[in-house]
Amino acid sequence: MIMKIREIQDEILRLKNEKDVCILAHSYQTPDICEIADFVGDSYALSVKAQGVQNKNVLMCGVRFMAETAKILSPEKRVFLSHKDAGCPMAEQFTKDYILAHKKRFPDHKIVAYINTTAELKTVCDVCVTSSSALKIVKNMSADKILFIPDINLGSYIAENCPEKDVQLLRGGCPIHGDIKEEEVLSAKKEHPEALFLVHPECALDVTKHADMVGSTKDIMDFARQSDASEFIIGTENSIAEHLSLEMPEKKFYTLSKNFICPDMKLTTLTNVLDFLKTGKGEEIVLDEDTLAKARHCIDEMLRLG
Ligand code: 13P
Ligand code: SF4
Repeated sequence: MIMKIREIQDEILRLKNEKDVCILAHSYQTPDICEIADFVGDSYALSVKAQGVQNKNVLMCGVRFMAETAKILSPEKRVFLSHKDAGCPMAEQFTKDYILAHKKRFPDHKIVAYINTTAELKTVCDVCVTSSSALKIVKNMSADKILFIPDINLGSYIAENCPEKDVQLLRGGCPIHGDIKEEEVLSAKKEHPEALFLVHPECALDVTKHADMVGSTKDIMDFARQSDASEFIIGTENSIAEHLSLEMPEKKFYTLSKNFICPDMKLTTLTNVLDFLKTGKGEEIVLDEDTLAKARHCIDEMLRLG
């Protein structure tokens, strides 16, 4: 017998309580996943939430670095990733040895890592940032020389808005946000001249320079909720426009490109979640003590300065 979506969701809600599982979902997940999550948010909010949950088990519906962050902050819990192949290409772009080589090139620079990095990479960095906290943290740091990894777009945005610091960059980035072209923004603006343009800082500077607001997925959603405007062009993964349209049918949300989709974020399905809860078998995040301790320092610095 084929189960309907509502039936699967009800079974998930029953099993997660029975098995003491907290489900965290990034806001790029589909609406059916967000509906069964205990908490939905951006990378920063998920990190903070992961630390406070009481359950023995956490299921991260998102990508691997997010599940690793939850494990680093709650090593006593069992943390699982919703789909074994859900990685973030940006987070996995550079190896630890590559960053260590750059550390030698810039011995006086503090290494600031975007949270979209592997746990292993965080072990050789000084502090983490998320898209919502990056500018504030870099400004709050006492160091004035910074090597920012891996996202050249977020790094350029920080450098432009924090000219008092020497910000060195590497050529990393998100293949999805990095693919958005200025022409696509100009054409969306031409088509919807009344719309405000809200954009994620993983897009290039020639895209973000046209923005009415630059921020994390949560910042974008909060801005749209609070704004008196009724039309918005959403410059991040298309699920954000979808969530906002469902939440506020009286407002209009336009996407920039039909290709603005993160395939890794879309790997997770309700049936993955149900299978995990039924069998208890899933992609468990296991990190050794040394990695946990060193990566934890990097994230604790983020929570302290953010
Ligand atoms: P947020 O921190 O805005 O949730 O971004 C995470 C991400 O992967 C964006 O592509
Ligand atoms: Fe990584 Fe980009 Fe997907 Fe975000 S949208 S998870 S940065 S690949």
